[in-house]
Amino acid sequence: MKSLERIGISLEPKLLKDFDKLIAKEGYQNRSEAVRDLIRKELSKEKLDKPDTPAIAVVSLVYDHHSTGLMKKLTNLQHSNLLSTISSMHIHLSHHDCMELIALKGKAKDINNVAQQILSQKGVKLGNVNLIPVK
Ligand code: NI
Repeated sequence: MKSLERIGISLEPKLLKDFDKLIAKEGYQNRSEAVRDLIRKELSKEKLDKPDTPAIAVVSLVYDHHSTGLMKKLTNLQHSNLLSTISSMHIHLSHHDCMELIALKGKAKDINNVAQQILSQKGVKLGNVNLIPVK
């Protein structure tokens, strides 16, 4: 087991009360895990600001599969970025709509570039990219 270091934090009562309410709502069992997650989140943001940071990502999008040529364009974008594309999953949501989850791996800047090309296609109704730094 990794060793832990204890730290003390001073907070205004109102801030602590709001924090406790928030972490209870989010399901944290204790403050330590919530604070660790906040720190990890901020460190992760800082890493992703550097374009060469190795990362993984899920691009999720909803689109109308009747949209002319869109499915072909999405497939072509993934095939022409094979080094970044790890996997994808297609889900038929309704008569018109499909959801696609595309897993990408690479440098943060390359992932953002491929994700933007995917999400900016005409016919994509809604989508986002969620990057996680690795290392
Ligand atoms: Ni479908």
